[in-house]
Amino acid sequence: MRQRILGELCQSPGAYVSGKELAEKLGISRVAVWKHIENLKGEGYAILGVSGKGYCIEESYNVLLLDSIKAALSTARLDWKLHLFPELDSTNEMAKKLIREGQAAEGTVIISRQQSRGKGRRGRSWQSPLGGLWFSIILRPELALSEVVLLSLVFAVAISQALDSFQFFDPQMIKWPNDVYINGKKVAGILLELSGELEQADYLVVGIGINVNMDRASLGRGLAKTATSLWEESGTYYQMGEVLLRVLQSIEEYYYEFLKNGFEDIRKEYKSRCFHLGKMIRLDTPRGSVEGLNLNIDEQGNLIIDSGDSIECLNTGDVALL
Ligand code: BTN
Repeated sequence: MRQRILGELCQSPGAYVSGKELAEKLGISRVAVWKHIENLKGEGYAILGVSGKGYCIEESYNVLLLDSIKAALSTARLDWKLHLFPELDSTNEMAKKLIREGQAAEGTVIISRQQSRGKGRRGRSWQSPLGGLWFSIILRPELALSEVVLLSLVFAVAISQALDSFQFFDPQMIKWPNDVYINGKKVAGILLELSGELEQADYLVVGIGINVNMDRASLGRGLAKTATSLWEESGTYYQMGEVLLRVLQSIEEYYYEFLKNGFEDIRKEYKSRCFHLGKMIRLDTPRGSVEGLNLNIDEQGNLIIDSGDSIECLNTGDVALL
């Protein structure tokens, strides 16, 4: 029944359907309609109820139709388990909590419509209002830690490929190590958190943030010049569920390719998608800045810079084009 109610509401997102109409169409009481709606809201569906008007599923922030995503992923190789929350502090924190509680199988995905304390790389915060896609994937690959860290680069390729599949964006989207850019502004980021022994990673939380249907104002103060959203860059309104689906499918594809064949072919694609390779850059690291020509991204995912005096091999920092 919940599926049928969702179906009715989703036929015209943003438009109100009265409780009476729903009850008559579905052959249940108005109280039963109300109860189903309350349950759906608890699951994270953005349904508004206005007395005298009825119910509508929010249009502006779009709908994550989990059931259809789950159905589309049902034949996938990874056993995806999707959990949607209306609001969390951070999906990575929730994923780690599940891991501590022993409830975190590979393929668990924690999605939140907004985050109150979204975390970015290098201790930064991550603006996570409604309109973005904020989620964390739990993986348990049988890999050494040195190999697992490459997954952050692998997934940057996967996300770029998924975004490309919607419409043509300049494919040179990646900023080392794992930022995704469109037209010189950041549209998505990845925060990888892992634990384990050197020889064997125990768990991996892949936190992914994608600015989808957000306008400049909601990107956050100070970010309007450096960040963007799919909506801002394309003028197109995206179905959030479709974006999530394509990103998960792409992540799965590149994940298995990496497990089977290693980094080499993906590294080639990474390099072709990296917009600063072969250009003059500055890398700001916790130990100072290095300027020079970005010669390569090596087999270990390091950034190679020719500073004029020496060839530097660096594994952390923020890249800026010079
Ligand atoms: C970056 O700094 O580029 C990484 C940003 C990662 C943000 C995502 S949003 C979902 C997940 N939960 C978090 O708290 N952070 C990541």
